[in-house]
Amino acid sequence: METSTNEFSLPLQGKLAIVTGGSRGIGAGLAWELARRGANVCIVYVSSNSKPAVTDLQTKISQLPHKPTTWACQANLSSPTGAEEVITQLKSQIHDPENLKIDILVNNAGIEAVNNMKDVTIEEYETVFNLNVRGSMLMTQAVLLYLPSKGRIINLSSVAARYGFKGVSLYVASKAALEGFTRAWASELGENGTTVNAVAPGPVPSDLLDKIPKSLVHMQKSTTPIEQRLGTTEEVANIVTWLAGPDSSWVTGQVISASGGWTMY
Ligand SMILES: NC(=O)c1ccc[n+]([C@@H]2O[C@H](COP(=O)([O-])OP(=O)(O)OC[C@H]3O[C@@H](n4cnc5c(N)ncnc54)[C@H](OP(=O)(O)O)[C@@H]3O)[C@@H](O)[C@H]2O)c1
Repeated sequence: METSTNEFSLPLQGKLAIVTGGSRGIGAGLAWELARRGANVCIVYVSSNSKPAVTDLQTKISQLPHKPTTWACQANLSSPTGAEEVITQLKSQIHDPENLKIDILVNNAGIEAVNNMKDVTIEEYETVFNLNVRGSMLMTQAVLLYLPSKGRIINLSSVAARYGFKGVSLYVASKAALEGFTRAWASELGENGTTVNAVAPGPVPSDLLDKIPKSLVHMQKSTTPIEQRLGTTEEVANIVTWLAGPDSSWVTGQVISASGGWTMY
């Protein structure tokens, strides 16, 4: 049996990964871990005030011993053209745009809205669904042209997709839709070895979590089997990077709960 050190230490070497929402929170941790395992990473963000954080992350990644390449693309994935803008910006930064290959897409950018169902507005609906659902769909469509065989698509869902949390129905429903996409895309794209999976975290400290009602977070924390604590970005990243690599080749259409056992299904 042939083995090489890099196969184990850098299983994603030579792969190009796009991480949406890679400027902060879970996405920044995902970009770091994918790069740590060898991938070259395109970090997608939207807010101009996140640019310094993206530059810092790129510097940190470039200092890894194997010197991964990074690119940054600023685009609004809630808009109908945002995903195509990412591809255009990425092509303008790489050496050989004619032969662009995107091996891994992580649809991580997401947003929540807190409001009771009876008061939810069309604007809030559009804010949440245009990013969490349509944005993930358009980003995946945009990447398909460049996705080689054995490609990897990973969607960031939430334990909320299958739990009726009060006051966040748009978020809950958007993540349920994303899990539906995950299964259907897995069926459509599996022919050439491409896998599509979702990771559903429980609460992880981030700007997004700060906006979720404290009572919901406390309820989850106090009933989490593992150590009654919140998850960490690293714990989520370890699962996402495993799904992004060769060891997960027989896993597709799945939702992996990253919640310390808060959900068990
Ligand atoms: N944190 C949790 O407890 C938790 C639990 C379960 C699931 N999740 C899911 O994990 C993912 C990441 O969550 P997080 O907590 O890390 O969120 P976060 O800290 O609020 O970060 C959101 C990221 O999405 C980007 N983004 C927002 N709107 C965008 C748009 N219109 N176009 C492009 N990028 C956009 C932001 O970019 P800028 O910095 O440029 O604004 C930022 O990088 C989300 O899908 C979330 O639903 C989180």
